[in-house]
Amino acid sequence: MIRIAVLASGGGTNLQALMDAENPFGRIELVIGSRSGILALDRARSAGIPTRVISSKKLGGEFAARMLETLAEFRTGLIVLAGYLTILPAEIINAYEGRVVNIHPALLPAFGGKGYYGLKVHEAALARGVKVTGATVHLVTEEPDGGPILAQKAVAVLPGDTPEKLQARVMEQAEWELLPREVRKLCRNLEWSKWRA
Ligand code: GRF
Repeated sequence: MIRIAVLASGGGTNLQALMDAENPFGRIELVIGSRSGILALDRARSAGIPTRVISSKKLGGEFAARMLETLAEFRTGLIVLAGYLTILPAEIINAYEGRVVNIHPALLPAFGGKGYYGLKVHEAALARGVKVTGATVHLVTEEPDGGPILAQKAVAVLPGDTPEKLQARVMEQAEWELLPREVRKLCRNLEWSKWRA
């Protein structure tokens, strides 16, 4: 059983989708918030999942060490970034190579990289006038939104779309389907690689 840590910074709807999904190969054992007072932490608490707040703003240079210490304490086997806005230090990405996955609300490489997060992604898509956008699940490397792509799903942009309406459609039709499915596949493959090794 792969022990999953979910990292979040906001509403936690992707976390909720993971919590609601069947995953015989993995279990969410920890939710880490980038700050306190976010709905994602309330969602975890109401499901009895342990939570921690690890703030890079507050911890500065101690951030990576605290994060690694906490992940080791919970024997984390897979890190899922679900609406997580802090850039993970290379130290953490290297310690969990191939075991950090992120959901991005656009069809990477479009509207990805530095500065593209949350509503800004959808504002940029609408400003560019694209007719199709969507979501991408990818492995995390040191390059923001640059890691190997695992899955993508397209979502139509409709006349009269506002950033909020488009965000909701991308979440409902793409993010909440792709992330649980790809996390389950990753957990299955990690389990099997344990046996193969
Ligand atoms: C949303 O913009 C979502 O598209 C992206 O992160 C933001 C918050 O998601 N993945 P969540 O509701 O906190 O999961």
